[in-house]
Amino acid sequence: MTDERPEQQKEPRRNFLVSMGAAMVGAVASIVPLAAGATALLDPLRRGREASGMVLVTRLSAVPEDGSPRKFTVESARVDGWTSHANTPVGAVYLRRSGNGVAALNVVCPHAGCFVGIAPDRSRFACPCHKSSFDFDGVINDPASPSPRDMDSLEVELRNGDEVWVRFQNFLPGREDKTAV
Ligand code: FES
Repeated sequence: MTDERPEQQKEPRRNFLVSMGAAMVGAVASIVPLAAGATALLDPLRRGREASGMVLVTRLSAVPEDGSPRKFTVESARVDGWTSHANTPVGAVYLRRSGNGVAALNVVCPHAGCFVGIAPDRSRFACPCHKSSFDFDGVINDPASPSPRDMDSLEVELRNGDEVWVRFQNFLPGREDKTAV
């Protein structure tokens, strides 16, 4: 069936349909970015680490086979207010082979928060600030050490054969107990 009306009468209907189509396209175009923004803000999994706090730190092949510790930077996406920063350093750990697995220690000294280093003779950890001294397993090895506790150990998981994942956490300094920040 054909529309027998004169052209002048068809025009308003055509304009109405064009306006409706434009409105629908505009609505869809505005909903997509809104939904994407809400997802990024609300979903903790988009923060670059698992919700469990596990972070991929390195490959097993990068950890010395002789059992000596090696320092690794821990990087993770970080949300700072409304801004998200991808792959930002959030701390560092010492990794060393232990038994069939890998042990991890936070590099931060439990005394007052300085970064613990490796002694020049490479026999132990030594804090440069107030001379706390630790064995490579993180245990205090000098009674004169002012640190109130051993270095903070962290949970490690080996995945997919060679991925070293660490549950990275910081702990309050200056306390005997290990209290996560
Ligand atoms: S901060 Fe390490 S001994 Fe004081």
